[in-house]
Amino acid sequence: AACDVVVVGSYNQDMVWQAARLPAPGETRMGRFSSGPGGKGFNQAVAAARQGARTAFIAARGNDALGERAADTARAEGIDARWQQVAGEATGTAAIWLDAAGQNSIVVAPGANSLLAPAHVLAQRETIASARVLLTQHEVHPVASLRALQLAGELGLLRIHNPAPQQDGAAYRALLAECELLTPNESEFAALVRAHGAEVEASAIASLADEDLHTLCRLLPVPSVVLTLGAAGAFVSHADPTRFHDVAAAYRVPGQSAHVVDTTGAGDCFNGALAASLACAVDLALATHVAQATRCAACSVESHGAAASMPTREQVGRRFPG
Ligand code: RIB
Ligand code: NA
Repeated sequence: AACDVVVVGSYNQDMVWQAARLPAPGETRMGRFSSGPGGKGFNQAVAAARQGARTAFIAARGNDALGERAADTARAEGIDARWQQVAGEATGTAAIWLDAAGQNSIVVAPGANSLLAPAHVLAQRETIASARVLLTQHEVHPVASLRALQLAGELGLLRIHNPAPQQDGAAYRALLAECELLTPNESEFAALVRAHGAEVEASAIASLADEDLHTLCRLLPVPSVVLTLGAAGAFVSHADPTRFHDVAAAYRVPGQSAHVVDTTGAGDCFNGALAASLACAVDLALATHVAQATRCAACSVESHGAAASMPTREQVGRRFPG
């Protein structure tokens, strides 16, 4: 079936422990447990699908109960999932600690995700060819992401690469050269900029002058950067703004104020919603797509869970009317 957005990425079963404060090393605290679908790739696919994009998801899972559940969840979301079933590896899991302020710490056990095979991705050529936008991250084997990006480039898709979570090494850095749009958060951006010879503290980024941010963005080998700034919104930097129907080469998009309960997957929501908006309303300026993605991400932090917290178009419209 034809699709608008294709996501190549991870699926994790998220296991969430919520406590008033996170335990320090050696400390035990009482809390509450919940579990649900996650993984950066899957969260982005759900975000795109709930925004109304026909969405395909290329991923790996184990031959286990969590893998079966993953397939059921994807089906229920109307996502065209192309699973590679990896024998002898577990479906990915993530242990998430959440505090009362909605901040989290995560340990990911990638399992099958790290064995996503380039050949499995290339076998989905028809699906990729039918899409307008490809979205990749840093939670599957980097060569699988690279092959997806290269193929999508040949086929003329718009390629968005979300360099999350932060991963060092040449195999991950190679992905930058194969996208039109890069979407780091502050700490990922600081690490990438450092790898290209400049020093900047992640905590200082949001308060830098636009001019300086633009200069830093231009050090990276990508035509356009959407730097996400959490509650402060995003900063956009283009080598050529006309390619995305923008006027300015560099500008900020303000964030939305939200009643934060759980920030898990907020960045994924932004990316999935951005991809959906770009794929479904091709003539709008990037500034408009980014503004819509910030509204979606704000909705996602107001409810618990990762994939489960992705808002529908109707929910975003009701939360931010007009
Ligand atoms: O970005 C949030 C996601 O990161 C979680 O769903 C977890 O699975 C980890 O991959
Ligand atoms: Na959430």
